[in-house]
Amino acid sequence: MDPTDPTVDALARLRAMQAADLPVHGGRTLAYVYDSGLPDVDRIGRDAVAAYAGSNGLDPTAFPSLLQMENELVGFAADLLDAPPTCVGTVTSGGTESVLLAVQGARDSRPDVTRPRMVLPATAHAAFHKAAHYFGVEAVLVPVGPDFRADPAAMAAAIDEDRDRTVLVAASAPSYAHGVVDPVTAIAAAAADRGIRCHVDACIGGWVLPYAARLGRTVPPWTFAVEGVTSISVDLHKYGYAPKGTSVLLHRTPELRRPQYFASAAWPGYTMLNSTLQSTKSGGPLAGAWAVVQSLGDTGYELLSRETFEAVDAIVAGLADIPALSLAAVPDSTLVAIATDASCDAFTVCDEMAARGWYVQPQMSYAEHPPTIHLSVSAATNAHVEEFLAALAESVAAARAAGPVSVDPGIAEFIGALDPATLSDEDFDGLLAAAGLVGGDPAAGLDLPERMAEVNAMLDLASPAMREALLVAFLDRLARPTRQRSANATTDARS
Ligand SMILES: Cc1ncc(COP(=O)(O)O)c(C=O)c1O
Repeated sequence: MDPTDPTVDALARLRAMQAADLPVHGGRTLAYVYDSGLPDVDRIGRDAVAAYAGSNGLDPTAFPSLLQMENELVGFAADLLDAPPTCVGTVTSGGTESVLLAVQGARDSRPDVTRPRMVLPATAHAAFHKAAHYFGVEAVLVPVGPDFRADPAAMAAAIDEDRDRTVLVAASAPSYAHGVVDPVTAIAAAAADRGIRCHVDACIGGWVLPYAARLGRTVPPWTFAVEGVTSISVDLHKYGYAPKGTSVLLHRTPELRRPQYFASAAWPGYTMLNSTLQSTKSGGPLAGAWAVVQSLGDTGYELLSRETFEAVDAIVAGLADIPALSLAAVPDSTLVAIATDASCDAFTVCDEMAARGWYVQPQMSYAEHPPTIHLSVSAATNAHVEEFLAALAESVAAARAAGPVSVDPGIAEFIGALDPATLSDEDFDGLLAAAGLVGGDPAAGLDLPERMAEVNAMLDLASPAMREALLVAFLDRLARPTRQRSANATTDARS
């Protein structure tokens, strides 16, 4: 290897930087990543991404292989989700884009409605709130039942409060935060009775729940087999175990998909013709997903699902031996939400798990519900469940010994009363510093506190609007350019 070759240096630096990230393999990162535990499948996916990194999905006639792969992926998904022969679909960049397009399509299918609204269970993914924000569709949030499942009667009533303006009704299969499947049959029936589209957000569960059913587990109906379901989103970069960057949005008929398409010939260049939010888009993620799906096939996914559910069952059983912990909801799928009792702080448990090499995700309190710990369990975790449970028991013991994170009551009252709309940039600087969220210099590595429990406890006291504002201010301060050439540029200008 030539040591003066700049690519060697770049790749070495890349690997060094990556060492600071959460591991994507090994089954110890229980959010953000989904690990099949099959290095050969990962390699095939990576090779396909690399082979297609420069191909452009903008024009399927120029890159027909991309069209073929997309149609095959959509076909696989349609078979999985009991879709009728009329079903069509699109590969998007991820769950959020699929949800955005479902909302945009619903809005644009009703040009007669000037102030569109959509009826959502309160547990619907934040992607719907983003869609509401982007597309000017009012999000009507309906409280869920005590089991965290959507309440179909309350949703029907919410539709009827303003039926003429309602363009979409949604349900989750399952919800991210609690891992439960909404009563899709009743929700879709209420939507269909009123002639309204019904989207099932199966972004996280759609590739694994069909196999759960095949494995004999009880799964409430949620696919196109349910009358009234008009579209479903399902992500390949979650339980499809594909490299990041792909989801599928399926519509029951081509007519339902049509408003999703955008075309513009109102300029002197090529006629822009898009099925997704992106125009130019790398062929890499699509090829990566296609290659992984081809390699695993139906049999591979069934085996991976079996492993994943074995892990879920073992974790659920193991929780019974840790008295401070309980299930926030009985999981319908591969997501586990863990509640802690008063003796044990959920945020501290997350820190303690991180110290033991496990990433579990803190979920803040919402409405009257206290914080929980989220696990997205994947196949690779199955081999390590005993270690996981041992680390969890130790983490709980450490959290109990440390006692709950206490926020000074004066500070708590102050944070609770803050209105982000009245705060200046300087106020945010001060608040972020007080919260320990200064960030430091990203180029030198993030300077985050070792332990996040105190920060999370403070954020948890803030109103949702304040929490959003604080974290946006934090991200804004992190995302600053690293100007590698500015010193040279000054020198050059002087010479
Ligand atoms: C139910 C659900 N919908 C939508 C999304 C958004 O997906 P993405 O992060 O790929 O944009 C997620 C992500 O976890 C999800 O769980």
